[in-house]
Amino acid sequence: MKTTTISLLRQWKQEQKKFATITAYDASFAQLFEEQGLSVLLVGDSLGMVVQGCDSTLPVTVEEIAYHTRCVRRGAPHSLILSDLPFMSYATPEQAFASSATLMQAGANMVKLEGGSWLCDTVKQLTERAVPVCGHLGLTPQSVNIFGGYKVQGRDEIAANQLLQDAQNLEHAGAQLLVLECIPAELARKVTEALSIPVIGIGAGNATDGQILVMHDAFGITGGHIPKFAKNFLAEAGDIRLAIKNYIQQVEESSYPGEEHSFK
Ligand code: KIV
Repeated sequence: MKTTTISLLRQWKQEQKKFATITAYDASFAQLFEEQGLSVLLVGDSLGMVVQGCDSTLPVTVEEIAYHTRCVRRGAPHSLILSDLPFMSYATPEQAFASSATLMQAGANMVKLEGGSWLCDTVKQLTERAVPVCGHLGLTPQSVNIFGGYKVQGRDEIAANQLLQDAQNLEHAGAQLLVLECIPAELARKVTEALSIPVIGIGAGNATDGQILVMHDAFGITGGHIPKFAKNFLAEAGDIRLAIKNYIQQVEESSYPGEEHSFK
């Protein structure tokens, strides 16, 4: 099996080939995802909510992400694995170096961090030290207490312009990938067109280069509030392998996410 790399994702963007990605937290699912063709996997700090049962991502530690990264790497040796830098593990560049070293040594190919232009020095310095970085803008769950809830971001003109500027600054600083979460579809389109790095959306419409879903949302096993952008592919397919195949296919042909999964 060919190994998935960031260069391949960049090639897909140039070829306008859409791609699906998903979160993974353990070896069994990681293996299943890789076998079925999902070979960009995020060990997200969403594990705090969907695996640990916390009510936010804030309690998650670097050691916990490292543990799950090791599990996912064992299951998916050929996948591009992104691992989240959890809350307060990159508040200073020095913290970011130490946290990233732990995650890269656990098997990550790239680290993901949440925030805008204030992170540019950190992104530049991580990249110079051989740590590839994925940015994350829009609804950044680690900032839930600043936002006052899990709310769609970038709705007014000032916030939208700021988000676009942040995205460009992160790319300029060396970020090689960007996640956009819960923003209007039109803003996500603008950002995707403005950047040369691949952009992955979740609740950001279908104009981004790739899509990501929390695996529990894709299989309909999320308790409580189900996000508007989520789709239960398992209910539709009735079989987990077919559900994964359908997710990939619907992203590739741009039928998922539909308007009903997007914000205006
Ligand atoms: O932690 C996570 O799962 C994420 C995705 C929602 C993008 O950051």
